[in-house]
Amino acid sequence: MYAARRSTRALLAALSLELLFIMPGSLARTFTVINACPFTIWPAVFTDLNAGTAVPDVATGWEAAAGSSVTFSVPDNWKSGRIWGRRDCDFSTNPGPNSCLDGGCNGGLLCDPHTGTGVPPATVAEWTLQGDGNRDFYDVSLVDGFNLPMSITNSAGCSVADCPIDLGPNCPSAIKGPFDSNGYPVGCKSACAANLDGNPQDSPNCCSGSYSTAATCPSSGVAYYSYFKGNCPNSYAYAYDESSNTALWTCNSSLNADYTLTFCP
Ligand SMILES: *[C@@H]1O[C@H](CO)[C@@H](O)[C@H](O)[C@H]1NC(C)=O
Repeated sequence: MYAARRSTRALLAALSLELLFIMPGSLARTFTVINACPFTIWPAVFTDLNAGTAVPDVATGWEAAAGSSVTFSVPDNWKSGRIWGRRDCDFSTNPGPNSCLDGGCNGGLLCDPHTGTGVPPATVAEWTLQGDGNRDFYDVSLVDGFNLPMSITNSAGCSVADCPIDLGPNCPSAIKGPFDSNGYPVGCKSACAANLDGNPQDSPNCCSGSYSTAATCPSSGVAYYSYFKGNCPNSYAYAYDESSNTALWTCNSSLNADYTLTFCP
């Protein structure tokens, strides 16, 4: 009896020692990307390798049929990562950024690891895990416009970040589009990308030039900000939207949250 207890205790001690050695290298989060849209989309993943070298254990792009989901592991220290969806793609000829009506990337189906960011307009889910103050940071960004509704939920009870409604149909005409072959708007451009003021180098819509700080680029100076933020109050709707306090979300990294990104939630 005593010997048995001793050996159990020794086994437990050995196990926890083993865990100590194994865990630091293997700690990871589980991410799930669900396509709840009633049509095929092509999700894409990009990591800013200047911010960190850890990358998710998944291809940088894939085809997601309606109703499908993909689960993969993401290192605990993923920095400046983004996931978005591409619409109406055809990679059969000249695969590249123009293979999709929006969201396309250098590379075609597989986005180039160094230059494969999405062509606007695109709704972008963004993460930095284990950022300042041991917090995960995440948001649903409309800074590059909108192309698909999405939501970021998590397993730790932290806030939901989302833009759950289709901003295409009611998008103001000056920024509406692109359009599919049926004339349906598959996106809504940012005022910056639509080049409404004709001066992208010095623009209150782009927060560039003399408008390049939070103080000189208030949301009130960004055309159609209220269309995006009013319909999607939990989204990151322009370059300095943090001051809204409902743009950038955090979750204690010690909670090891798993994240689910749902398109068309
Ligand atoms: C994060 O969670 C850990 C573990 O539950 C806790 O010790 C720590 O105080 C939390 N940090 C913050 C900033 O709440």
